[in-house]
Amino acid sequence: MHKENQPDLSGVVRSAVYLLAQGTPEDFNQHYRQRQFRARASVIDEACMVMDFSYEKRAEFYTYVYNRLVRKVPVDYLEFGVATGESFQAWLGLSRQPESRFYGFDSFEGLPENWQEDSPMGAYSTGGQVPQVDDPRATFIKGLFQQTVDDFSLGFTPKNRLVLHMDADLYSSTLYVLMTMNRHIRPGTLLLFDEFTARGFTDEFAALEDFCAACGRSYVVRARRGDFVKLAVEITA
Ligand SMILES: C[S@@+](CC[C@H](N)C(=O)[O-])C[C@H]1O[C@@H](n2cnc3c(N)ncnc32)[C@H](O)[C@@H]1O
Repeated sequence: MHKENQPDLSGVVRSAVYLLAQGTPEDFNQHYRQRQFRARASVIDEACMVMDFSYEKRAEFYTYVYNRLVRKVPVDYLEFGVATGESFQAWLGLSRQPESRFYGFDSFEGLPENWQEDSPMGAYSTGGQVPQVDDPRATFIKGLFQQTVDDFSLGFTPKNRLVLHMDADLYSSTLYVLMTMNRHIRPGTLLLFDEFTARGFTDEFAALEDFCAACGRSYVVRARRGDFVKLAVEITA
């Protein structure tokens, strides 16, 4: 076999060596995802706005997304992972048009699985309390996504520019939402990720990649924080 026809096994070999050294399938999966992320990160940079801002100032990122990517038209804004409603309220404040609609999904019981060391199962729980929001455009849908989003998606008809804000941290939650909302996702739909990759965790990135692979979708990154933690992605197909 000519050299150019031989499959490049270097990545597989590296992964196998890592697996043998580290031992568990979880480690292998993590390692594989990080490699995949590094490979993707090198090509998603073109024509992408790179911003640096602290967590407290993340509203600056939303403002950029709303002004420059949404272009200030009315939105159907769906947030998955609301907790106390901080980011949800920031978006309510950005789009003042009466025809904009805002839907917030959360169990309000916290993460349904352990995530990072400082975010175990139950983290971000509000004890079941839904945020008090005095805005008729806002609707909260309380419950596990796995129990609420399918029914919502079946009955939903988008009317405005669709913005899905993914802030559930977990791979399982993020993938479930993307798959279940797939019927409404079109070229031009904006997806925001709050923890695209965080301290080596690549749950939201992995969920987006697996969603795109399973549903034949593709995307470009339109804006991101320098460290790839927060991203705005536009679906292109
Ligand atoms: C990081 S918090 C959201 C923070 C919020 N967006 C903010 O910035 O103010 C993550 C939220 O996702 C919710 N969540 C994660 N997976 C979920 C699931 N499968 N069903 C319902 N809620 C879920 C948790 O209850 C938690 O409130």
